Amino acid sequence: MSRPLAGPDTPGLAALVGGLEVVVCCGSGGVGKTTLSAALAAAIAATSDRRVMVLTIDPARRLATALGMSGIGADPVTVPAARLREAGLPLRGELVAAMLDQKSVWDRMVERHSPNRQVARRILNNRFYQGISDAFVGSHEYAAMEALYELHEESEYDCLVVDTPPSRSALDFLEAPERISDFVGARLLSWLARPSRLGFHAMNLAAAPLLHIADRLLGSELLGELGDFVADLQTLYGGVQQRARAVSRLLRSSRVGFVVVTTLEPAAFAEAEHFVAKLEELSMPLRAVVVNRVLPGFLTDEAAIRAAEVLADHRGAQALGRVLDVAVDPVAAASLGRSHRLLSELAQRDARQLTRLARFVDVPTIQVPLITAPVSDLEGLVRVAAAL
Ligand SMILES: Nc1ncnc2c1ncn2[C@@H]1O[C@H](COP(=O)(O)OP(=O)(O)OP(=O)(O)O)[C@@H](O)[C@H]1O
Ligand SMILES: [Mg+2]
Repeated sequence: MSRPLAGPDTPGLAALVGGLEVVVCCGSGGVGKTTLSAALAAAIAATSDRRVMVLTIDPARRLATALGMSGIGADPVTVPAARLREAGLPLRGELVAAMLDQKSVWDRMVERHSPNRQVARRILNNRFYQGISDAFVGSHEYAAMEALYELHEESEYDCLVVDTPPSRSALDFLEAPERISDFVGARLLSWLARPSRLGFHAMNLAAAPLLHIADRLLGSELLGELGDFVADLQTLYGGVQQRARAVSRLLRSSRVGFVVVTTLEPAAFAEAEHFVAKLEELSMPLRAVVVNRVLPGFLTDEAAIRAAEVLADHRGAQALGRVLDVAVDPVAAASLGRSHRLLSELAQRDARQLTRLARFVDVPTIQVPLITAPVSDLEGLVRVAAAL
């Protein structure tokens, strides 16, 4: 089904998703997810009386400072309404910002799902645990989901706007719940950790031929520790699996909405197409597509393109000189013409992509212009928010 792109009468993004309990901003690396999440949260807090929390992931230092956040894992901070007003965005509601602290999300998960405090302590203190958050694809993504779920359960905020990690692929985020279940419950791990008749986990490990070599290389102490760790990890399985299912359910509910962020650059755009299809396949509600860093419309103006062609030609400078009655440097005139030609070619490619987008999505598309001033301060965020 195809629908026109958002026009002046289409409600803005803040109105479209501001009434939801959770808004997840996703898309491929570097497209502007973190910037858009913060700007969208600000726009919702400006246009409604809701208490809005933006959960950012690895924001640029400048953006974090602009929002008043300092240091990883800092507690949520209320963005001063006076600062936002000065920057041009008076709030009706409230804006709170936080940064995802992956390590503490993992620690809480271990504590929650361990059968008792001893096991939890053992896992948390195990040296293998220290590296676990990098141990499987999607661990960062799952931490974001888990944090989203926790915040939603606490229901301190009317609306949560959630940024997503700079994944290799945006799909990593959607597949994270399955991956974590697989990771904690992997068959190999179960086999390794199965209690042996002797009740010593490492005996199983030592029985595997490959691990027999590992035993010699690493020493049986380390291997024993690994075996114990794997066995402890197994005790989390039931809880983690149940939780992952609850997270997946929440992400499919009508209280949640996904916003796919993309640029019109071909790789990011192709990924957005996949992502939209995947959301549909998973019955996760897509609410809007934000096209970021859109070039200005005047670049596709026919008359301007013709003028640029004249300038790019070596006779262009003479023609311009005659019109203006001044001497025009032919080299400067030619590069001016070529610059416009280059930009207009990009803008025409963007226009084709936008037409294509209208064909494959049946939700509103919101365009955010390319802003040449910095967007990572409050003034910049307000500029982005104005487009939402
Ligand atoms: N509309 C815009 N105009 C100009 N620059 C922008 C715009 N939106 C975002 N940027 C800039 O693009 C860069 C990437 O933005 P951002 O960090 O929000 O992307 P991201 O998708 O979160 O990246 P990552 O995948 O690495 O987390 C930043 O420098 C940001 O300031
Ligand atoms: Mg980011």
